Amino acid sequence: MASGNGSIAQAIIDAALQQNFPAQIVAVVCDQPEARVLVRATTAKIPTFITPLGADRKHWDDEIFATVESLNPDLVVSAGFMRILSPEFVSHFKVINSHPALLPLFPGAHAVADALAAGVSRTGITVHWVDKGVDTGEVIAQQPVEILPNDDVASLHERIKIIERALIVSTIEKIVLSMRKTDA
Ligand code: GAR
Repeated sequence: MASGNGSIAQAIIDAALQQNFPAQIVAVVCDQPEARVLVRATTAKIPTFITPLGADRKHWDDEIFATVESLNPDLVVSAGFMRILSPEFVSHFKVINSHPALLPLFPGAHAVADALAAGVSRTGITVHWVDKGVDTGEVIAQQPVEILPNDDVASLHERIKIIERALIVSTIEKIVLSMRKTDA
């Protein structure tokens, strides 16, 4: 699931193209019809599902739920998906999220700007299970990133994303392999 540029999704798409990667991507689900991630998915021949948020939030929650249920995924990955998923969604599916900060510090949609504004010397990435809260679920993996004196939001976010792309791929790999062991 992604909402925008989709460079994190692209890293997962690229990894899934490797023969020894233990997972396939069944679809990319997006809430923004103009998002670049849709082009990335289509280029990789991955089906896309677009569900823009309208006036009726409950309708959107139901639509997203039905879309993902029809795909029957073992794991849902929120990779730059900028909407809160319903409690029903996160209790029904196994969902992980990649977040550009060292949670519990700087949850929410502006994590990179918030870290800069707070004047901390380092921030990072957290991959976590998604629960009913906003970025409150159990942490799976974290990696720090130093904040440099001249950093602005764009430069810091780009350095975070370089590490984030590798961290989400390796985390998906570990989770999927451990799911297989549990199934065996
Ligand atoms: C990523 O840094 C991701 O962690 C963040 O959006 C970026 C998406 O980048 N997500 C959040 O902030 C969610 N709270 P991308 O569009 O280049 O993949």
